[in-house]
Amino acid sequence: MKRMLSLLLTIAMLLPICISTPATQITAQAAGKKLIALTFDDGPGPYTNRLLDGLKKQNVKATFFMLGSRAEAYPEVAKRVYQEGHQVASHTYDHPDLTSLSNSSVQNQVWTTSDILHKTTGASDFYVRPPYGSVNSRVQSLIAAPLIYWSVDTRDWEVLNSAKVTANILADSYDGAIVLMHDIHSTTIDGVLNAISTLKDRGYEFVTVRELYRRRGITPKNGEIYYSCKANGKDTGAATAPKITTTEQSDGLKVTLTAQSGSTIYYTTDGSDPLTKGKKYTGAFTTGTPCTIRALAAFHLNGDRSDIAELKITTPTAKAPNLTIEDGVLTLSGGSDSTAIYYTTDGTTATTNALRYTAPVQLTPGTVVSAVCGGKGYLTSREVRATYSDNENVLRDVYPNQWYYQSIDKLLTAGVMSGIGNQYFEPRAEITRGQLVTILYNYAGRPETDESTLPFDDVAVTDYYAKAVSWAYAQGIVSGHSDTTFAPKDPILRQEMSQILSAYLRAAGDDTDTAETTLSYTDCDRISDWAEDAVKHVTALGLFSGDEKGNFNPRDTATRAEAASVVCKMIELS
Ligand code: NI
Repeated sequence: MKRMLSLLLTIAMLLPICISTPATQITAQAAGKKLIALTFDDGPGPYTNRLLDGLKKQNVKATFFMLGSRAEAYPEVAKRVYQEGHQVASHTYDHPDLTSLSNSSVQNQVWTTSDILHKTTGASDFYVRPPYGSVNSRVQSLIAAPLIYWSVDTRDWEVLNSAKVTANILADSYDGAIVLMHDIHSTTIDGVLNAISTLKDRGYEFVTVRELYRRRGITPKNGEIYYSCKANGKDTGAATAPKITTTEQSDGLKVTLTAQSGSTIYYTTDGSDPLTKGKKYTGAFTTGTPCTIRALAAFHLNGDRSDIAELKITTPTAKAPNLTIEDGVLTLSGGSDSTAIYYTTDGTTATTNALRYTAPVQLTPGTVVSAVCGGKGYLTSREVRATYSDNENVLRDVYPNQWYYQSIDKLLTAGVMSGIGNQYFEPRAEITRGQLVTILYNYAGRPETDESTLPFDDVAVTDYYAKAVSWAYAQGIVSGHSDTTFAPKDPILRQEMSQILSAYLRAAGDDTDTAETTLSYTDCDRISDWAEDAVKHVTALGLFSGDEKGNFNPRDTATRAEAASVVCKMIELS
């Protein structure tokens, strides 16, 4: 009986080994590479730079469980570890047995070290390896990070002999192993660097601990202990450097970056380091030249990122031409000996295949001009574009194919509305209370008014809208936002605009009867009581209508283009 039991035990102990060994080999061949995580504790120290040189030479990434006190002593080395793509991790501040400490001391060991590692390296989010591998459930519950142990113990601190370190690594390594070493021993540095080429021959890829788990589809949990990560048939693939593609277009160089899905791309265009200076890539962007684009892809910047891709563009971009239109005559300037100016007058975007500019051009009203600068050895400049309108206005941001073009063109000519300067109109900007009142005042012919008697603290007599507000207030067309404020720079809501227009029309003698008018907007219940009659009035006159869903949107703001369109309709009525 006793004999039988021991036989059973032997079989039971052998079974997992017999089954798992071939299974591991099969899955490793079937899916992904053999992965191994080299880890170094207790540093950084005087030998760490030599280790980093060797790892860099062989293009190997590793994980460094640093002591906070040592990172303070060797901050430049700690920083180098992070910058060269290794994972920075925590081994506490000064190597205590955490189970012997109070709760607050345990947390202090972890938090202080995280702060130091972040400040010295720039990295964040640190895995923790407890000194001596010593934890209990209390300590585990206090550490908000995965606890990383090891599955191969090289005993490098004990043997202190590089050949033995090499032999121990090679003897015990397997796919998914986490190898424990200490970069504070010179013999360890030689030992591990000698082992790497043999491990490479055996088909190993060297990964950080974070990468090891990500590659196999596992997310380590805070407070849980991890020893290794054996092959499980999954390999999500290494983070590979982004692909940089560029296309020349009329406003500079369009840059597109692509990398594995799930990774984030960080880039710079001035040749600086994308790890520390990079912007997050959110979509294709345009840049001037010459430039140096550098980019990396990361699943996590600390230990799970790609190498840096780089593209240098030495060809300069030509400077955009200056465009002026005066009395219908187009003048372009800014070309150089090696570049020329090209233009179109049919609304299409100019390229270097368009007409070459040689002398001022007489335009006919209703023309859109496009111009670029370019030449051999240059990327074509940004496009410069302007409209010479039907009413002979020059506009840089309004074009005949836009629904609001005619309203804006008419109001500018009538002097009822003006641009915001430099021939820009900003049709999509919100119209403000001050602007709307000014439009009405202009339309009324700018009558005499005494702006010095205004009760509003936020309207100064020198403001462009002071006379307009004064006039509209005296006419009862507007009231303040309070007794002492008018809020001239506030965007106007559609129901407020309705009320002001209605009041203006009434003051001007409009006697439209709204007693029988009923509103059929889907969102009638959102119209304030004070605005209801005004909304009926402007709806009855056809100045306002609902959107495609039948909503009036009383609390939405209006754009300058919408205001121009409404005021134009109002003028046509009178
Ligand atoms: Ni240690």
